Amino acid sequence: MRQPVVMGNWKLNGSKEMVASLIKGLDAELNGVSGVTVAIAPPHLYLDLAEQVLDKAANKIVLGAQNVDLKDSGAFTGDVSPVMLKDFGATHIIIGHSERREYHNESDEYVAEKFAVLKAHGLVPVLCIGETEAQNEAGETEAVCARQIDAVIKTQGVEALDGAIIAYEPIWAIGTGKAATAEDAQRIHASIRAHIAKESADVAEKVIIQYGGSVKPENAASYFAQPDIDGALVGGASLDAVSFAAIAKAAAEANA
Ligand code: PGA
Repeated sequence: MRQPVVMGNWKLNGSKEMVASLIKGLDAELNGVSGVTVAIAPPHLYLDLAEQVLDKAANKIVLGAQNVDLKDSGAFTGDVSPVMLKDFGATHIIIGHSERREYHNESDEYVAEKFAVLKAHGLVPVLCIGETEAQNEAGETEAVCARQIDAVIKTQGVEALDGAIIAYEPIWAIGTGKAATAEDAQRIHASIRAHIAKESADVAEKVIIQYGGSVKPENAASYFAQPDIDGALVGGASLDAVSFAAIAKAAAEANA
C-alpha cells in the first residue's frame, strides 16, 4: 500500500511573516490527520526559518525544497547544494518542474543529473514530468512522460526510482484552474506506472506518482479516489493553510 504524499510547492512566494504563520496554521489544521505524508517546499531563503518553526510543530510536516544544483560546494556562484538543503533538514526536493524546464532551459538529461545527485545524498527526488498543451493535443502525452522518466532510467537504472516521487503535472493545468479530469489523470498515471513496470514491476508498484496542476480542495478527492494517483503536488492552494490541509485530509481519507 502506497501512502499518499501531498506536497506544497510555494514557488516564489513567501516572507518571514508568511512562512511562520502558514506553517503554524497548517500544523493546527493537521491535528489528528494520519495516513498521508505532508510536505512543504518554501523558497530556499526561508528553509532556515521553516526548519525552526517545524521543529516546534505538533504534527510531522516534511520539509522540502524547490530545486537543487549539482555541486556540493566550490566556485559555483548562486548555486544551492544538496548538502546545504540537508543541513536545513530538507529531504524532499522538487526537480524538473516545468517552470524550471521552461525559464531555465533545464533538459531531461540535466534534470536526470540532479536526480542522481539527490539520490547520492540520500534525498528524495520529486521528479516533475508532464506535457505541454500542444503535445497533449497531438496525443504525445504518454511518450513525453516516458521520455522524461527514461532520462533517469537510462543513466541510473530503474532501481533509482525506488523511494523517489514522480509528479505528473500537465503543463496546461498548472496555475490555470484548468485541471485534468481525474479519469484522464488516472489514465496517464497508469501508463507511467506501466512504463516503469516494463523495467521492474516491483519498483512500479512502490513508486509514488502525484498529480499536480490546479489541485484544489474541491477536486482533490476525485484524484485520490483513483488507484494510481498517490497524492498531489500543489501550487496555489498550498499557500493557504486551510485549503492545503483540506487537500491533505482528502488524501488521508482516500487512504483510510
Ligand atoms: P498549481 O501548481 O497547483 O498552482 O496549478 C502546481 C505546481 O506547479 O506544482
